[in-house]
Amino acid sequence: MGTVVLGTGSCLPERILTNLELETIVDTSAEWIRSRTGIESRHIGGRGEQTYQLATNAAKKALAAAGVSAKELGLIVVGTISSHMLMPSSACFVQSELGAENAFAYDLNAACSGFLYGLDLADKYIRTDHSMKILVIGAETLSGRLNWQDRNTCILFGDGAGAAVLGHSDSERGLIDSNHRSDGSLWDLLYMHAPESLNPDLLVAGNSGAYIQMEGREVFKHAVRAMEDSVRGLLQKQNIDINAIDFVIPHQANMRILNNLIDRLDIPLRKVFINVSKYGNTSAASIPIALDEANRHGLIAEGDTVLFCSFGGGFTWGATLIKW
Ligand code: ACO
Repeated sequence: MGTVVLGTGSCLPERILTNLELETIVDTSAEWIRSRTGIESRHIGGRGEQTYQLATNAAKKALAAAGVSAKELGLIVVGTISSHMLMPSSACFVQSELGAENAFAYDLNAACSGFLYGLDLADKYIRTDHSMKILVIGAETLSGRLNWQDRNTCILFGDGAGAAVLGHSDSERGLIDSNHRSDGSLWDLLYMHAPESLNPDLLVAGNSGAYIQMEGREVFKHAVRAMEDSVRGLLQKQNIDINAIDFVIPHQANMRILNNLIDRLDIPLRKVFINVSKYGNTSAASIPIALDEANRHGLIAEGDTVLFCSFGGGFTWGATLIKW
């Protein structure tokens, strides 16, 4: 008995930016990007492809797959750090676009962990009200939040959205447990300033604008360790052996992080879903896009134990287990 995924959907912007094209924008090489990160291309949003618009398209597909109408939704949560406006939230725009007149809606800022944090809170709502249907979305247009002259960051990220409709099931299936953590003391290893403002505290030297800034090597070390710890902690708490995991959907950061994590957890590669070569790191959208692809390709069977893990700015990180 638990909270189940009733349907998934995703949406990628039309434009594809390849590594070769990036060579013409910033001081890098296609081979460096491919060999260090495993990323070959990423999708970049254009006009009419704002975060909420990608999110809405992904949501429509998820609702159709779930056989749930927008009016049945009680809550819409969008994990994002790249809304086109600070207010209203992307979630409110999605609510309006869908005509989800019975849903309340809000955004959740947990960077790349936004979707997993969203699943966690949806599970808690649904456990207290079994009739509730909740739309959890991860959506980003980080291409508008990058310094395209900073080769440490601009090569890594891409745009997109993924969505899942959640509800209650009386079956044995459902979300088993989560193990989420945060550490705000390490904020300055990966951050984005607020946009220009009259707030005197924000008029600080070094505020180069609302662009992602990152200490790549430090982030790498923390990301791998933190994801391993949260996965091991969750498995221990639930008394589940790592070999009992049927399928893994990790945050698609880059291949170096993924390979390191897979080695440390000693999980066979065939159990791990990876699509980072096509999309780059789409932050909060990465797990729900991967979930939708895996789901639509029939890679997850009913009854499978599926493990998710993420790490992002904050720092935020965590792991979630679902009996599919
Ligand atoms: N093109 C060409 N050369 C580059 C580029 C580039 N795009 N970027 C860096 N270099 C150079 C550096 O200048 C450096 O040169 P030097 O040795 O002459 O000084 C060299 O390549 C090595 O640079 P490093 O930054 O040390 O590269 P590293 O081997 O650490 O790999 C990487 C970089 C893959 C980004 C790694 O640090 C990493 O995985 N970091 C995690 C970052 C990440 O995924 N962040 C996303 C957000 S958090 C998350 O989603 C988990």
